[in-house]
Amino acid sequence: MKLEAVLEGAIDVHAHILPGMDDGAQTREDAVAMARVAEKHGTAIVVATPHVDLASRNRSQVAEIIRGSARTLAAELVSSGLSIRVLPGMEIAIDPHLLSLLSNGEALTIGDNGKYVLVELPFQHVPGYAEKVVFDLSSAGYVPVIAHPERCNEIANDPNRMYRLVRAGAIGQLNAGSLTGVFGKSTRRVADILLRHGLAHVIASDGHSPTARSCRLDQAFAIASRTLGRKAALRAVRDIPYAMVRGDGVRLEDPERYTPRRWFLFGRMGV
Ligand SMILES: [Fe+2]
Repeated sequence: MKLEAVLEGAIDVHAHILPGMDDGAQTREDAVAMARVAEKHGTAIVVATPHVDLASRNRSQVAEIIRGSARTLAAELVSSGLSIRVLPGMEIAIDPHLLSLLSNGEALTIGDNGKYVLVELPFQHVPGYAEKVVFDLSSAGYVPVIAHPERCNEIANDPNRMYRLVRAGAIGQLNAGSLTGVFGKSTRRVADILLRHGLAHVIASDGHSPTARSCRLDQAFAIASRTLGRKAALRAVRDIPYAMVRGDGVRLEDPERYTPRRWFLFGRMGV
């Protein structure tokens, strides 16, 4: 069975598809080509999430610029004969003041509906204030979504670092490319651990281009289907993301702690 035939109606909550905003699409043609690839491989809605560092000074107009750019691209996709929809969002570098930046409208939520917040951690470590940010957002009715935790070194070395964030109220978002091996075997292994332990719940593309890092979700969906079963894989690429773009709540299984396997001279111990 062809993968394209398997996946329909997927929703991609993390993509750098707005042209000229960051290191993703550089031109309108790039953006349309990215959307065309996504639609061809089963994606119905893509959320445009440019990198935003809200600690920078010129941030007051960023949300409005992203909204306008997403509207322009949406019209361009229609005129290009595509049916895929595009919604505004942001990938926000974690910031101790994130809650107030959301409250005053400087930070955009996924799909701009005021609930799910795509948060990026530094690649090296998890800041000491991360749990407090997650807890504060959760208490205020937001749901923080940790972007590609498998690519953060501290979590890769200790996946239970993510357990603490999930217990504090976060959702984990894996990159499709992490599951397919684009970022190497080690990242693929961490992504698999997070997925199996309920420490990551959603798969998104984090697409940056029409080719090398595209907006395809179908291949990662196929891998997740083998790992978790088709129903759970559909939850990760369609059902939970659908709740996100609608601003609905989601009920998640309790996460499990990861127990590293220990290797001894004569074999393996532990689970
Ligand atoms: Fe990203």
